[in-house]
Amino acid sequence: MVNNPTVQTPKRRAILAGTGSFVPEKILTNEDLTKIVDTSDEWITARTGIKTRHVVSEGETTATLSAEAARRALKDAGMRPEELNMIIIGTITPEMVFPSTACFVQDMIGAKNAWAFDLSAACSGFVYGLSIAQQFVSSGLYKNALVIGAETLTRITNYRDRGSCILFGDGAGAVILKSASEGPQGVMYSTSFSDGSGWTALNCPAYGSRNPVGKSLADPSMVYMSIDGRAVYQTAVRRIVELVNECLKKCDLDVEDIAMFIPHQMNARIIESVGKRLKFTNDRIFINIDKYGNTSAASIPIALDECRRLGKLKSGDIVLLVAFGGGLTWGANVIQL
Ligand code: COA
Repeated sequence: MVNNPTVQTPKRRAILAGTGSFVPEKILTNEDLTKIVDTSDEWITARTGIKTRHVVSEGETTATLSAEAARRALKDAGMRPEELNMIIIGTITPEMVFPSTACFVQDMIGAKNAWAFDLSAACSGFVYGLSIAQQFVSSGLYKNALVIGAETLTRITNYRDRGSCILFGDGAGAVILKSASEGPQGVMYSTSFSDGSGWTALNCPAYGSRNPVGKSLADPSMVYMSIDGRAVYQTAVRRIVELVNECLKKCDLDVEDIAMFIPHQMNARIIESVGKRLKFTNDRIFINIDKYGNTSAASIPIALDECRRLGKLKSGDIVLLVAFGGGLTWGANVIQL
């Protein structure tokens, strides 16, 4: 599959000015799930690496999680909300059909000078969003962009399907890109792909224009996410390996130059298998799926923020973000911090 990005050498750079994340307090453990479906802690841990997930409570929504992650990113960047020029939220669990979640968040945090929109690319929503923001910020058109990945997946999880309900959790992560003429290289390279013919592997078919409210559904579970786990697993490993190789080649980097590989937290076995194939040492692969489960678009920005907060990254380090998900969609960003 051919795409058309090149490594950019713009006059200005899109540097990472701050990160933040937020997950709901309520926790759903593997033990809790054994009371809902026929499963076990041993099976879930061995097949996915997941131990717990955070779950929204009454009053918590995709916008409230996003707003809190955004406030933390603004604090980290030492920036006022009025300084933001654009807000992009990658999500498949928006606040409403419309207006966008991003418009709610713009209002909640007081970012009155930013235009705001949502982006639907499932688990690739954040890396797609970062690649869009990179263009506006590195061109110098905008000074500051806020990119969020946020989900309340437990609202569309089928707790009768043991093959999928063990996977998903809720949360939000945020990154601020700032236009700069010097300093680290910031977002060095972004690449994005889609293959709509693979839509059946991961979807939530109701309610949209194909299955509108009021139309009787062929199956009541169409209001929930449906996944073909095995098909996703195999394709994801192949695509992620391709993405990493493309990023290394285009940026003229070796695996050893990547301080941290931060993949979408889809399944610890997928991540480990990819890591082995690419020869990343374990200390340079970030995995936190044990705590949060798969949070789709939120997983990479939550992981990036946690990684920074744990002191695992320093200024000048290069991180590689890689995602794969429904659409099908996949993409990556290379960032020098
Ligand atoms: N507890 C116990 N047994 C379970 C189970 C559960 N929660 N879920 C499925 N099983 C059973 C199946 O019924 C099957 O039994 P059978 O062999 O008697 O038919 C067996 O375990 C194997 O099922 P399978 O689906 O082949 O397991 P798997 O090793 O592929 O793991 C996933 C399933 C979902 C964990 C894995 O495929 C995966 O992570 N896929 C990608 C995840 C994904 O799509 N994420 C969303 C997009 S990012």
